[in-house]
Amino acid sequence: MTPPDYEYLRKLLKDQSGLDLSSDKQYLIESRLLPLARKCGLSGISDLVQKMKGGSAFVVAQVVEAMTTNETFFFRDKVPFDHFGDTIMPEILKTRAGRKGVRIWCAAGSTGQEPYSLAMCLKEMGAQLSGWRIEIIATDLSHEVLEKSRAGIYSQFEVQRGLPIQMLVEYFKQNGEFWQINPEIRAMVQHRQLNLLHDFSQLGTFDVVFCRNVLIYFDQPTKINVFNRLHRTTEPDGFLVLGAAETVVGLTETFKPYPDRRGLYRPNDLRAAKAPVAAAAPRFAAAAL
Ligand SMILES: C[S@@+](CC[C@H](N)C(=O)[O-])C[C@H]1O[C@@H](n2cnc3c(N)ncnc32)[C@H](O)[C@@H]1O
Repeated sequence: MTPPDYEYLRKLLKDQSGLDLSSDKQYLIESRLLPLARKCGLSGISDLVQKMKGGSAFVVAQVVEAMTTNETFFFRDKVPFDHFGDTIMPEILKTRAGRKGVRIWCAAGSTGQEPYSLAMCLKEMGAQLSGWRIEIIATDLSHEVLEKSRAGIYSQFEVQRGLPIQMLVEYFKQNGEFWQINPEIRAMVQHRQLNLLHDFSQLGTFDVVFCRNVLIYFDQPTKINVFNRLHRTTEPDGFLVLGAAETVVGLTETFKPYPDRRGLYRPNDLRAAKAPVAAAAPRFAAAAL
């Protein structure tokens, strides 16, 4: 790959998906895009770049998808799911007792293990949620992972990663070498293709947002931009859950860490935060006189 091809791809990926590659990630591009070039009947990455420069939206979409990292597994990192059961849902049960409804967004749900882990947690809560309207929306940039998530079919290896055996027995049906999650759990999750760089206000507001292990790929201004828009989409008394290597601290005032709960955040009331500034304004005006 020539240096201009690399620079072209770096800029394209940053603009299209937020992926912020440092100047030394040629090996990553080659390992992901050479197989794609061959699949498209092209001789190498320079040919892919020429197709993209020629305006092939199809190739651009394929390149962007091929460069996403889709690593995920059931109950990944465990702690966020403990917070979900011992902190988030007990509070939701109290504060939403009137409307009996909860809206949850998995903002980069990949192949479905994260949204289905949440669905199983809710199912395990049994009668406490009887009569409740539960919405789990799983979105992702990649069409390919969404297809797999919709199907809810996993290999033996995938169900052995993080999924307790009793949940495998309870919520999955074996079909040859594969396991399919049962229709009741599958129906709890709705899927939508969505790029976090684009407007997501049409999804409405959520009580709980899981946005884990995707912002790590973005640069700082992009993270701040996403946090600002997540703030508008999270209910004022809602929750944001980030990945183990992600935080709002030092980046934005839109969310604050939940005490003693690693990875859990709550929206800040920005109007309250701004109030002292507004109150101080007349004094400055008076001083100016
Ligand atoms: C590493 S996976 C994380 C999956 C899951 N949240 C977890 O923590 O296990 C990151 C996911 O983010 C998606 N992604 C990357 N850039 C995105 C963007 N700009 N908008 C939406 N999803 C994106 C990828 O397709 C991938 O499925």
